Amino acid sequence: MTAPLPRLALRIMNSEAHGGPDHAELARLGLRPEDILDFSVSTNAYGPPPAVATAITAAFATAEVTRYPDRDATALRRALADRMDVAAEQVLVGNGAAELIWLIALAYLRPGDTAFVIGPTFGEYRAASQVMGVQASEWRASADDDFAIHEEAVMAALRQAQPRVVWLCNPNNPTGTYLGPDAWTRLRAAAPDALWVIDEAYRPFLDDPWPSPFPIEEGVVLLRSLTKDCALAGLRLGYALGAASTIQALAAAQPPWSVNSLAQAAGVAAVNDYTHVARTTAELRAQALALGQALRQRGWRVVPSTTHFMLVEVGDAASVRACLLREHHIQVRDCASFGLPQFIRVAARRPDENARLVAALGEASPREQ
Ligand SMILES: Cc1ncc(COP(=O)(O)O)c(C=O)c1O
Repeated sequence: MTAPLPRLALRIMNSEAHGGPDHAELARLGLRPEDILDFSVSTNAYGPPPAVATAITAAFATAEVTRYPDRDATALRRALADRMDVAAEQVLVGNGAAELIWLIALAYLRPGDTAFVIGPTFGEYRAASQVMGVQASEWRASADDDFAIHEEAVMAALRQAQPRVVWLCNPNNPTGTYLGPDAWTRLRAAAPDALWVIDEAYRPFLDDPWPSPFPIEEGVVLLRSLTKDCALAGLRLGYALGAASTIQALAAAQPPWSVNSLAQAAGVAAVNDYTHVARTTAELRAQALALGQALRQRGWRVVPSTTHFMLVEVGDAASVRACLLREHHIQVRDCASFGLPQFIRVAARRPDENARLVAALGEASPREQ
């Protein structure tokens, strides 16, 4: 007897590396996730809005967790629609933006299609494309000029690839580059028939973002995450904004009940209590500038970034990461999975925590790398 093998696309896939605690690794080192100062995830180090804890406690008190969640996340969808000034039919809530990326691939990509990315970028675009039997074609920015995006070259690559889906991370993880409205308009004109997915997971951490392409036309989807700015990574929460027809297609591909009731309650509370998030994301951006400056003063090459995370060239990122974790209980993102084994990515935290990172990195002198 031979049991069926999984689909070929799955058998040849590598799982994507991500920041955040590797629980097995920490257990080997005798550490717990709460012992770690984590610079490897780019979430809000000031935590969620205070209203979130109250909302979750109330959800428990009313036995919310004993019932199936609202499949349509109606209250959260409405709160987001009001805040974005769009119709509720233009919003889909997902179990993190990551789920929405996979839903887009499931709903729109067919074997033989082409997807397109501007690399180096977030790995789930490639993974979600691959699982549908689609290779992502890439135009890749270079470390030599701080990962600048060369518009003409990207446009030529787009015209050649004729992609069905373009994954555009803006601002980009891990480089921190950010395309403005003019660049966006020109790039889109090079692949006007594609579905353009603009992943704005880190938009709340920008100093002065442009308003995004509103009203959202057919052929454009915006992805937002509540796990970063609202610090709800453990609850998982994100949303997509798009034309009602696109949102309907993504909803059709979504498993039922994928957004749990605690996440929905937390999301409503967070959206209605955004003052804390607005203040703390602005602080983190200022602290990122200070952190970058402190590292540069000590001789490190830090790639200029528009957001609160940045790439730092350290030579051998894997060993620097391992050393920081083992010796200092500090976690940074080794960027080897982005094809950048000489870089780590760090996201700014509170000033005293950033100072600990600078001191710990100081023990690995940049001049020795
Ligand atoms: C660019 C980008 N998009 C989406 C995600 C996933 O976000 P979520 O936690 O909402 O699934 C991440 C997470 O690291 C990310 O970096």
